Amino acid sequence: MPTYRIVTLPGDGIGPEIMDEAKKLLAAIGSKTGTTFACEDQLIGGAAIDATRAAGEPVSALPPATLEAAQSADAVLLASVGGPKWDDPTPGAVRPEAGLLGIRKSLQLYLNLRPVRLWNALIGASTLKPEVLEGVDVLIVRELTGGLYFGVHERKADVAGAGVGGAAGQTAVDSMEYAEYEIDRVVRWAFEAAGRRRGRVCSVDKANVLETSRLWREVAARVAADFPEVEASNMYVDNAAMQLVYNPAQFDVLVTENTFGDILSDEASMLTGSLGMLASASLGDGTALYEPSHGSAPDIAGKGIANPIAQLLSVELMLRYSFQMDEAADQLAAAIGSVLDAGWRTADIADDSTPADHILGTSAMGDKVVEAYLAQ
Ligand code: IPM
Ligand code: MG
Repeated sequence: MPTYRIVTLPGDGIGPEIMDEAKKLLAAIGSKTGTTFACEDQLIGGAAIDATRAAGEPVSALPPATLEAAQSADAVLLASVGGPKWDDPTPGAVRPEAGLLGIRKSLQLYLNLRPVRLWNALIGASTLKPEVLEGVDVLIVRELTGGLYFGVHERKADVAGAGVGGAAGQTAVDSMEYAEYEIDRVVRWAFEAAGRRRGRVCSVDKANVLETSRLWREVAARVAADFPEVEASNMYVDNAAMQLVYNPAQFDVLVTENTFGDILSDEASMLTGSLGMLASASLGDGTALYEPSHGSAPDIAGKGIANPIAQLLSVELMLRYSFQMDEAADQLAAAIGSVLDAGWRTADIADDSTPADHILGTSAMGDKVVEAYLAQ
């Protein structure tokens, strides 16, 4: 009977609530498939900042114990980090997001997959017209350990003439850098994935302005030459942002650098009806990490109303990419589809036609999915 060790990182805000649903689901999948998922909670984000501070340890959003556990685990499941409590404006203050960026970088998870799929039952929940959404199935492949996120972040105080009206003032710098190998490995993965999908890759950049993008485009063209059966195209990021709402069904695999991928994936989540429906898998050299694409939603934290589905879909991706349990993953996806088809909603995906007694809280939605999964 296979046993998998999963490091679970509930984090902040709604994180602990949606993580509880993922654990419930993992227990059900374990019992149905004869697999043991041994979950071990560790600290990350604001929760880690508070705990390390309280223990008199060096304040950290990614304590060494968390990283060590993650490195030796079979998979990492993360919920969300951040919140106004830790929005400390002091320069150099430890932020919860540093935990997330730190674990991505330390595990060398350079590849972030964000599948944007349409749930028939939710077509009405999107702000876009149904005819625009027809046929949408996009795999966003985001570079995750390079670019602006990991460049130099610097503040220069009192530079002559930088202030308003010619006075001295501050200047801030964020640098963006990409090496060829960092581009190649991500774009290559995108082309391989397209070969198993509808055979199209759109590489998104800003090559009309940025040198990193011009290098990105060159490398993408070289990689494309290795995949003659895949149709390759390039798009400027501003145009891609527009095309995603104008004609989203044109995309199959969309590959792009870190910052563009962050922005475009939030935009694309709206095609699914809610940011609460978008899961992600981060793959690379170390232990793979799975997390919802959304944040910690501090405004609704602790109320038991958050949508757990992106977290549950992160479990689906984990089954596929870390454990090769495709059958269980298919059943889970079908279960979520059937719960939605039956009209069950969390508040974020409800609309005017949803009866009040069909709007579920976090835990009730988790129960529905588990029940539907076990019935598959
Ligand atoms: C995401 C998030 C993170 C990111 C934040 C929380 C640092 O927005 O995973 O998309 O920008 O990568
Ligand atoms: Mg984001």
